[in-house]
Amino acid sequence: MNIFLDTANIEEIKKAKRWGVLRGLTTNPSIVAREGKEFLDLATELCELVSPFPVSLEVVDRTGEGMAEQARAISALARNVVVKLPTNPEGLAALNLLKGEGVKTNLTLIFSTSQAILAMSGGATYISPFIGRLEDRGYEGMGLVRDIMNIHSAYNFKTEVIAASIRDPHQVIEIAKTGAHIVTLPFAVLEKMLLNTMTDADLDKFLNDWEKVPGRENAFKGTRRLEKVGA
Ligand code: G3P
Repeated sequence: MNIFLDTANIEEIKKAKRWGVLRGLTTNPSIVAREGKEFLDLATELCELVSPFPVSLEVVDRTGEGMAEQARAISALARNVVVKLPTNPEGLAALNLLKGEGVKTNLTLIFSTSQAILAMSGGATYISPFIGRLEDRGYEGMGLVRDIMNIHSAYNFKTEVIAASIRDPHQVIEIAKTGAHIVTLPFAVLEKMLLNTMTDADLDKFLNDWEKVPGRENAFKGTRRLEKVGA
């Protein structure tokens, strides 16, 4: 399962890149607005920072024709741009208008299996079911991902499924069990997956015990070589 970040915050992206786990980025108009930067400047920074991995940028028109026009414009920015389209009648119309133009698409705001079926059948590059927002409203989010993945494999759709709107590491684990291709995480959730007080406490114990090792100051100086040992 590939890990994407769901953010436009440069510092968060740099941290995830440094951990070596970043395989893409998703944004939406609310995420973009949080950064308070000109859209094109921010989009440029994101595409350069995340390259060669995909960066989802969402159109904001409400008509299929307008969305398609915005999609063509923003996908011209960089090869790793993926255009987010809402999974509604106009978003599907935009997907249809863009067919054969080489624009990568991410059909987003998916809350039902039927929406996912239409988006995958329509040839979306990615789809984004919103797990957390379903569960925030008392619906079963994990069942949606399971249904989508079952249908995806039954028809061997080419679309990649991005489980989105994630609230905590437990959801990531359950999503991973469904075989979803990608999960896109707020940085805070990614950090919660990694940080563990037991790891910290036991590492401290290891390093305290290390202080009793004779000659430890030369242990990692690369001064000794066993030519005939090892593969
Ligand atoms: O990528 C979709 C995501 O941004 C929505 O997540 O946390 O706002 O529900 P959230």
